[in-house]
Parts: sequence; C-alpha cells; structure tokens
Amino acid sequence: MGEVIETRELKVYFFLRRSLFRQRAVKAVDGVSLRIERGETLALVGESGSGKTTLGRALLRLVELRDGVVLFRGRDITGLKGKGLKSFRRSAQAIFQDPYSSISPYMNIYDIVSEPLLIHRVKEKEKREKMLFRALEQVNLLPVREILYKYPHNLSGGQRQRVSIARAMVLEPEFVVADEPVSMVDASNRAEILYLLRNLQKEKSITFLYITHDLASARHFSDRIAVMYLGTIVETGITGRVIEEPLHPYTRGLLASVPEPDPLNRKKLRPLIPGEPPSASDVPSGCPFHPRCSDFIERLCDKARPSLKELSPERSVACHLF
Ligand SMILES: Nc1ncnc2c1ncn2[C@@H]1O[C@H](COP(=O)(O)OP(=O)(O)OP(=O)(O)O)[C@@H](O)[C@H]1O
Ligand SMILES: [Mg+2]
Repeated sequence: MGEVIETRELKVYFFLRRSLFRQRAVKAVDGVSLRIERGETLALVGESGSGKTTLGRALLRLVELRDGVVLFRGRDITGLKGKGLKSFRRSAQAIFQDPYSSISPYMNIYDIVSEPLLIHRVKEKEKREKMLFRALEQVNLLPVREILYKYPHNLSGGQRQRVSIARAMVLEPEFVVADEPVSMVDASNRAEILYLLRNLQKEKSITFLYITHDLASARHFSDRIAVMYLGTIVETGITGRVIEEPLHPYTRGLLASVPEPDPLNRKKLRPLIPGEPPSASDVPSGCPFHPRCSDFIERLCDKARPSLKELSPERSVACHLF
C-alpha cells in the first residue's frame, strides 16, 4: 500500500506574549509520529484543545512547523516553498467545520467550486466545467444546472457543506483533511454527509484524515483511530479494536462518554473523565494525562513521559501500564 502521509516527531508551538520580556509556548503539537496509508481513513479524536486542528493544518503545511518532518508520498515536504508547495497543495485539500469560513458569501456556486481550478491553472473552460459538474454531482447537489448560479445564502447548511466538499474534491486530491466536517450541520443531514464522504473516499482511494471529538462517528467512518491528548498521540489502532478494547485510560474515558452508537441520535457529550482538559500552555510533567488518570502510579507517571510503544503491528499506546 505505502504511506501517503507520514510525520516524524512533528512539533507546532505557538508563542503567547505574557509581558514585554516573557512569552509562553503553547505546545499544540508536541512530537507526533504518524502515518496514513493510501486509501485509508485515519480518525483523529480527542477533546477540545488537544491539538487536532493544528496537527491537520500542519499536515497540509498551513501552519509553521517548529520541528520534525512531514512526508508526502515518501518525499520530505517540510521545507517546500513556491512552486513545489503549490503543487503539493493541488494534491492535498481541506474540508473545515464551518462552510462560511471556507466559501465566500459573495460568490455563486459556479465560481466557488471553479476557483481552485483557476488557481491551479486548468486553462480550458470546457475542461473546467466538466470537472465542476462532476464535483457537484458527486456531492449530490442536483440538478447541477439549478445550483450553479445560487449563492451560499440560498442554500441550507447541509447544502453549503456539500459545496465546500465539492470545492475540496474538484481537483481530485490524493489527501484530504476533514476537520469536524459535520459538527455545524443539522443532525438530520450529518449521517448522510458522512456517508457521502466515506463513499467518495473509498471510490477514489483518497487518503483521509477525519478529525472529530466524537468516537461514535469515528467508529463508522474510519479504518484506524489515533487518540490525541495535549499535543501527543496516546493510542492508535484499527478502529474496531480500539473501540472494543481501548487500552489507554484516556481512550477508555472518551469511550465511556459515548452515549449512542447511532450518529443520528447522539448528543454532544462531555467525556467521563474527571477534571477539565488542561491547557497546552501548561502541560503537566511526566505523562500529560496523569492528573486526571484513575490508574495513576505515583513516582512514575508524574515523572517520566511514556513514549508511544508498539504492542503489535497495528496497536500502539503511550502509557506506563503497558
Ligand atoms: N493560532 C493560535 N495561536 C495560539 N494558540 C493556538 C492557535 N491555534 C491553536 N492554539 C492553541 O493550541 C492548542 C490546540 O488547539 P487546536 O485548535 O489544534 O485543538 P483542537 O483539538 O482542534 O480543539 P477543538 O476540538 O476545540 O477544535 C489549544 O491550546 C489552542 O488554544
Ligand atoms: Mg479543532
């Protein structure tokens, strides 16, 4: 199969100025090594503030990297600039949570979905229109001719998110980051849009990073899961195995909070983990999860940071219990 995306010890820090002379590092991504194989969907799950969006943006080279390496199809893209970066951007696209932030309210659907084709110099109008029609058909915005000259405000929330999916898909990317793609869509449209994404992904063998705080949807729409906590990956594995037998105490806590396996009927729930998620600007010593962990071992978990250990070819966990 081969990896499409791989990172090694990736770090993204933000610096907040606290006073004239003091600044504080927010370690949003703090040493992440992961890989996603061709045609695979990796779900990245974790509570708010764990660094999911930042990691997704780092894979697309949309944020400045502090350290580490990103490989795309085996090639180091960490330092890409200019033309090289532009050509990578053609193969790697994003779908964001809020369609309003990714599509302009002043452009009609024809222009919104064709824009990436113009940016990437698909010169013939006929070819562009063919790609435009195909993209809109793929997301079931039918009949296409009736949608083309509408504006975002003429559409429902679900339709708007389909437009942003069409825009991401129009260049036929190899790698797509979907960051909470349905969390702002009304519940009645969520499952349908997720199924649509899953089908597109499978049909075109797209390599997919699906970011969600919700393990129930990860269960349905991913092949593997990576659980993120305070900038690090604490557990990875085949989706079914992680859900059936979560190893890391944090994953167990996240799972305990999932009320409904049906993505149509779920509510936004808080995990059954004591305490608030700590801040990435103040990461605890040792295992970052230790202050909230029920299996905490004194003088070990608060001292040494556990590394991500491979227990079997498809299972890794970063916890002193293993
Ligand atoms: N541009 C920025 N400047 C400073 N800090 C940032 C910036 N972007 C993110 N952060 C911080 O980095 C950490 C990780 O944020 P991120 O948005 O990646 O988390 P997330 O897992 O996507 O959360 P959510 O589930 O709420 O979307 C947080 O502490 C956040 O406040
Ligand atoms: Mg986010």
